[in-house]
Amino acid sequence: MKIHKTADYETMGRKAADIVAAQITLKPDSVLGLATGSTPLGLYARLVERHKAGELDFARVRTVNLDEYEGLAAAHPQSYRFYMEQNLFSKTGICPGNTHLPDGLAADPAAECARYDAVIRGFGGIDLQLLGIGHDGHIGFNEPGGHFENDTHVAVLTPETIDANKRFFTSAAEVPRRAYTMGIRPIMLAGRVLVVVSGVDKADIVRRAFSGPVTPAVPASILQMHRDVTLVGDEAALGKLL
Ligand code: F6R
Repeated sequence: MKIHKTADYETMGRKAADIVAAQITLKPDSVLGLATGSTPLGLYARLVERHKAGELDFARVRTVNLDEYEGLAAAHPQSYRFYMEQNLFSKTGICPGNTHLPDGLAADPAAECARYDAVIRGFGGIDLQLLGIGHDGHIGFNEPGGHFENDTHVAVLTPETIDANKRFFTSAAEVPRRAYTMGIRPIMLAGRVLVVVSGVDKADIVRRAFSGPVTPAVPASILQMHRDVTLVGDEAALGKLL
């Protein structure tokens, strides 16, 4: 695993953007696995800047996001589709047909999971997968459990995740209880994995994920078995890494 320790959130975003930009430059039709949440916002802002400066061409880039809340329409301000449109897609000239997220309003969840796995398989897998890590060790919405779940599935959010995500909603009661998430298999089959972490509140889980045992109780710990992981984090988040 390669580790880049940065002074702060700002430089973390710049470093991570360097890595994503290099991926797109080397392979303009890259399949990017993308994440939402607070941590990648700086990274996305830097990518948008580079696109606007004429340095980065997204015309052929293809994307598959990790997850989407069940029950939220694409136009809902807290849907992950909305987040991606606001923070990246609409500002980078990426072809709308090349962007993929699970459909939160799908009538048949099992069919939607199968459809999403087929999209990823159809791409021949993911070139670079971007990940944040939840305080409970989740990646995507692969929550702690008794086994690693390989395929796209509907996850029941843990109380900890609902609590962490309520900051985006008016109240915890409004946070959807279930979400579609990519499974562990396409993440582990991705050519490269880029993990971004920031803040002292992530220091314990970063240590457990990368210095502790590999266990489905800490889903991110499976990344220890991936052959090409780059961890970019600020000093606060990496402070307890052994
Ligand atoms: C988001 C996702 C989640 C987040 C994680 C960390 O698409 O898949 O696993 O990456 O919850 O979120 P932040 O960055 O908000 O701390």
